[in-house]
Amino acid sequence: GATAVAGGPPRCKLVLLGDSGVGKSALVQRQCRGTFNPDMTVTVGAAFLAHTLSLPSGVAVKFEIWDTAGQERYESLAPLYYRGATAAAIVFDVSSEKSFARAQHWVAELQRHASQRPLMVLVGNKTDLPAEERAVTREAAAELADSNDMLYIETSAKTGSNVAALFELIAEHIA
Ligand code: GTP
Ligand code: MG
Repeated sequence: GATAVAGGPPRCKLVLLGDSGVGKSALVQRQCRGTFNPDMTVTVGAAFLAHTLSLPSGVAVKFEIWDTAGQERYESLAPLYYRGATAAAIVFDVSSEKSFARAQHWVAELQRHASQRPLMVLVGNKTDLPAEERAVTREAAAELADSNDMLYIETSAKTGSNVAALFELIAEHIA
């Protein structure tokens, strides 16, 4: 759970996992800066950002965000970031079956460490894309989430749709 610091806000170590190109960095940039860059560069290793989110209840949650690199060559680094995490957002691109298969891989990997499992959220990103490009149904994703005791949310880092809702969902569960 969240670490309560005396006199300070609850903290949440959040790790983002998922295939390269699904929009992990775009989601973080949308939430922390309110911007979207159509030409993001791939993440190397991992990027760290601190972000404080105030909930309607008045509680402020201090996120320590580890935005990992999705390229396969960085896969062995992932445990450094998800170990000890309060929450994990496993992101896929709703237009990419391959990215959904990668998400299933990450779900299985985190489930293997069940005793210290973080709060897990499955995130279907790029909902702004035309319906005919959709490759993973909401039902298939919700089913994966349900059967693994995860939350599920669909987002667009491009339009900003549900991005704040994603961070609020996590904050509300850990605060
Ligand atoms: P790695 O750092 O390699 O793991 O990739 P990533 O998951 O961080 O992906 P990134 O955020 O760099 O986004 C990859 C590409 O997808 C970029 O060109 C983004 O602009 C684009 N993108 C990200 N989110 C969205 C979205 O919601 N909709 C659309 N249409 N494009 C998006
Ligand atoms: Mg990235």
